[in-house]
Amino acid sequence: MHAQDPAAQSLIDLGKRYWLPVYRPRDVVLDHGKGARVWDTQGREYVDFGAGIAVNALGHQDPELLEALTTQAGKLWHTSNVFYSEPALHLAEELVNASGFAERVFFCNSGTEANEAAIKLVRKWASAQGREAAKRVIVTFRGSFHGRTLAAVTATAQPKYQEGYEPLPGGFRYLDFNDVAQLEAAFAHGDVAAVMLEPVQGEGGVLPAAPGFIQRVRELCDEHDALLVLDEIQCGMGRTGTLFAYVQDGVRPDIVTLAKALGCGFPIGAMLAGPKVAEVMQFGAHGTTFGGNPLAAAVARVALRKLSAPELLANVARQSQALRDGVARIHASLNLFEEVRGRGLMLGAVLNEAHKGKAGSILDFAAANGLLVLQAGPDVLRFVPALNITDADVAEGLVRLEAALKAYLAA
Ligand SMILES: Cc1ncc(COP(=O)(O)O)c(C=O)c1O
Repeated sequence: MHAQDPAAQSLIDLGKRYWLPVYRPRDVVLDHGKGARVWDTQGREYVDFGAGIAVNALGHQDPELLEALTTQAGKLWHTSNVFYSEPALHLAEELVNASGFAERVFFCNSGTEANEAAIKLVRKWASAQGREAAKRVIVTFRGSFHGRTLAAVTATAQPKYQEGYEPLPGGFRYLDFNDVAQLEAAFAHGDVAAVMLEPVQGEGGVLPAAPGFIQRVRELCDEHDALLVLDEIQCGMGRTGTLFAYVQDGVRPDIVTLAKALGCGFPIGAMLAGPKVAEVMQFGAHGTTFGGNPLAAAVARVALRKLSAPELLANVARQSQALRDGVARIHASLNLFEEVRGRGLMLGAVLNEAHKGKAGSILDFAAANGLLVLQAGPDVLRFVPALNITDADVAEGLVRLEAALKAYLAA
């Protein structure tokens, strides 16, 4: 990593002293950004292939997002759900229309909360059907990531996120992702109320659902009167090349959760509910103080409009190919990767046997070479840049990636 100047180091020391040490940020203090570039407090510039973990889908300082935020900031910041405010009313209508399946929307503040709402909605629906508690099982998949509240982390079928938090809520069953035989066997118990999955697993290693898998999930849900819940918190909002990833899988879900790029950096989450479940939760059944916050909703309206635009989605396909080609070129000379997988601008370069476990170390070399990139577990480099990233920024990011990988190999 870079040497720190004393001012940056003293900021980092504050974090080390005062933050609950649940994160391990790199020793870089970011200061400002523009498009797909960011600068740290020492004036060093980075190409941003991480976008704040797939959040800044329109890059930094998008002028229309800025305009929406500042205009709303001059009017009204917060109302609570005791009163209406205009941005969240229009946003709900626009999300319903864009989704093609949803009838109602619940707003919250993060991905975890959107999934928590989805889990509660499944349970309430099953309860309303008269199903006993033991028959309200939610199936999720190994490698998934659904968030950090106790229910969302229980849905997250990865022991490393759960250890030490027992007792966990009951009623979840974990299967291997993309395994149809296991899925059929799971339904045979006769107790499944819902299947919840990410169309492209993000934190679990950038792993897309196999072709036809989600369709099979849908069929089984229909046969057994269960709900299909899609977590599009990371893969939604245009990231895979369509506004919603499920469109490419040819299914109609019952519930979809969104967050991350919905606010392009302003915190907001949403749960979209289809016809089977839209009327299940009535007055008092759920809520949150900040849900539908006018600042968040005003920003999200602009984000939704811009991320739905055909030119933007065409750019996702174009830059996806450019990134794939670039990583393939680098691989041809440096021999580091097993495969590049993912969809659109949600790509994972899987390290080959000789470099397994080294993603974190490679990220340090990337930052030292002016590139911000992510990992998805210890073996996968994850690329989730802004969806409006330019040819020039992708090309420059690839140059820096190659330099970083050479430095890693030489170390
Ligand atoms: C697929 C998915 N679901 C849920 C979450 C949790 O979202 P949040 O961190 O906003 O609570 C994440 C965050 O990485 C995610 O990628």
